[in-house]
Amino acid sequence: MILAIETSCDDTCAAVVTADGEIRSNAIASQGLLHEQYGGVVPEIASRRHLELIDAITADALEGAGAGLDDIETVAVTRGPGLIGALLVGLSSAKALAAARGLPLVPVDHLHGHVVAATLGKDPIEPPFVCLVASGGHTFVARVDEPSSYRLLGETLDDAAGEAFDKGARILGLGYPGGPAIDRLASEGDPEAFGFPRSLPARDGGAGLDFSFSGLKTSLLYKVRDLGEEETERRRADLAASYQAAVVAPLVARLAQAIEREGVANATLGGGVAANSALRSAAEQACHDLGVRLWIPPHALCTDNAAMIAAAARFSEPLAYPDYLDLDAAARLA
Ligand code: KG4
Ligand code: ZN
Repeated sequence: MILAIETSCDDTCAAVVTADGEIRSNAIASQGLLHEQYGGVVPEIASRRHLELIDAITADALEGAGAGLDDIETVAVTRGPGLIGALLVGLSSAKALAAARGLPLVPVDHLHGHVVAATLGKDPIEPPFVCLVASGGHTFVARVDEPSSYRLLGETLDDAAGEAFDKGARILGLGYPGGPAIDRLASEGDPEAFGFPRSLPARDGGAGLDFSFSGLKTSLLYKVRDLGEEETERRRADLAASYQAAVVAPLVARLAQAIEREGVANATLGGGVAANSALRSAAEQACHDLGVRLWIPPHALCTDNAAMIAAAARFSEPLAYPDYLDLDAAARLA
């Protein structure tokens, strides 16, 4: 059994997963409410909170799995990318747990975790597949041939899709996190009421399937200014629906392009934005039209969690004790 720990942002997570991908437990302590009053994650506060929660969450994961530390054969932990102070709490804790028992430790790339989340459970996705990950911190499409690695096909050049939702929600006077609020409000609005820009950029030298969301947020800001307070209030649902459509369209366009270009039969979504109802139905429709099977893991496996870190660890080389003692966290991975 693998005990995995994930503390890259504002969720304190631990999970127990078997080598063949059965999730025995997946414990998460969300700090969402703590950061809500600031309108975003405050790194220093997140680190301190991880420190307070990490032991309890680890105990929770073990208890939920009906296991003790004696049953754990490997410890896995997110090494990056993420908030450096937050990562350090998880990494130190994982090192201590592994070293105390001389267990091997697997350092995991957080994004690799998102990419292979759909390999968990009774109906795992089979490579080759393409994966669209859209969260508050990351937005990219990747191709997987072997679950031990992934190849980036494109990524956001500025804001992440979740960030676009959060910033848009703030402009519309909705709460934080903004994605769920926009999703709810959008169901009462017309996605074609306003024409927001749908950007499909491609970097020089990149694989061609990039994203850009920063112009969209600016465009909403101008629109709200033009409309004025009263009219914005009256048309809030239309604004939310049109804005959401402009975030979702490029996500689905890139997913479809990746599927076609790479010629794969399987695809999956990951990241917190995978909870978005418009994205889910548009991705399902696109995959249906392309004759491709789409895996959308349950919400708890799409948002940050430790089970996906264990999932990635299954396909990665462990470091033997004591080789990992001087391992460092990395805010960015090469
Ligand atoms: O993966 P996640 O939980 O955390 C990281 O950022 O790593 O993703 C959180 C993001 C937030 O930006 C939130 O607004 C967005 O996912 N989100 C949604 C929805 N639920 C969460 N965005 C759109 N629609 C949703 N229903
Ligand atoms: Zn994440």
